[in-house]
Amino acid sequence: KKITIIGVPMDLGADRRGVDMGPSAIRYASVKEKLTGLGWDVQDHGNLMVPTPESYDVGELQLKYLREITEVSKELASTIDKVVRTGRFPLILGGDHSIAIGTIAGMAKHHKRMGVIWFDAHGDLNTAETSPSGNIHGMPLAVGLGLGHPDLVNIGGFAPKIQPENVVIIGARQLDEGERVLIRERGIKVFTMHDIDRMGMGAVMEESLKIVSEGTDGVHLSLDLDGLDPHDAPGVGTPVAGGITYRESHLAMEMLAEADLLTSAEFVEVNPILDHGNRTAKAAVALIGSVFGEKVL
Ligand code: ARG
Ligand code: MN
Ligand code: MN
Ligand code: MN
Repeated sequence: KKITIIGVPMDLGADRRGVDMGPSAIRYASVKEKLTGLGWDVQDHGNLMVPTPESYDVGELQLKYLREITEVSKELASTIDKVVRTGRFPLILGGDHSIAIGTIAGMAKHHKRMGVIWFDAHGDLNTAETSPSGNIHGMPLAVGLGLGHPDLVNIGGFAPKIQPENVVIIGARQLDEGERVLIRERGIKVFTMHDIDRMGMGAVMEESLKIVSEGTDGVHLSLDLDGLDPHDAPGVGTPVAGGITYRESHLAMEMLAEADLLTSAEFVEVNPILDHGNRTAKAAVALIGSVFGEKVL
């Protein structure tokens, strides 16, 4: 029962500054104390170094800060690799969602058939060709599947890192046209808000757990706080109305804890500048509690 926390104060993948303070906000909301209280041995690796956008050139506008994001992703992948080698569970705190490129690259070294739960309002399945913004935080799931700029796709020296049949997206409610095409072409399972409303989160999670566990040797949880409803998680850069409720999100985390499948997890897009009283970081810590086994009784 050993966890290593890794902070990645990344904001180069998104337009709105402030998400670089996400790791601090989550630590301020007592993530370590929460986990220690649940009986885990917790080590905090601290933050990786992330370049400040002001001192770098944005580069190609359809892949903003590609060079810098590639460097940080490599660093994150190798840090995670080391953490896993020492027998510890990596818990990554973002930072914008572009950090998932490095997380998936690091974990895929240890799990040849990794399941991925992508909890998000968005698909993050864009490439430079389909992105409406050029922001790399809208691309990490595509990169994991082997689609996108070769510098990102080939981190760690192999691609793809994951297979579409082992991926499930939960909470989607804003997809770009190119992402819809990709989802259909690759047969990626998406539980939209419509599905969650109709089936209930319990049934959605039962099906999701099957998808990510069948034929896999590990499961990564990538949780974008904008998957939650903006009422419960206002501190995010790209909020979308009509999201997953606080209670539904806890049920999802509790079912994940019960299934005991996770081999890594990341909590991303917490932006304390846009938040109200650190509510979003507190929600993240509450969800981290549930996913690491916290129960009422
Ligand atoms: N689909 C939009 C884009 O590609 C928004 C992506 C938001 N992603 C996120 N991780 N919050 O620009
Ligand atoms: Mn920025
Ligand atoms: Mn999102
Ligand atoms: Mn996302």
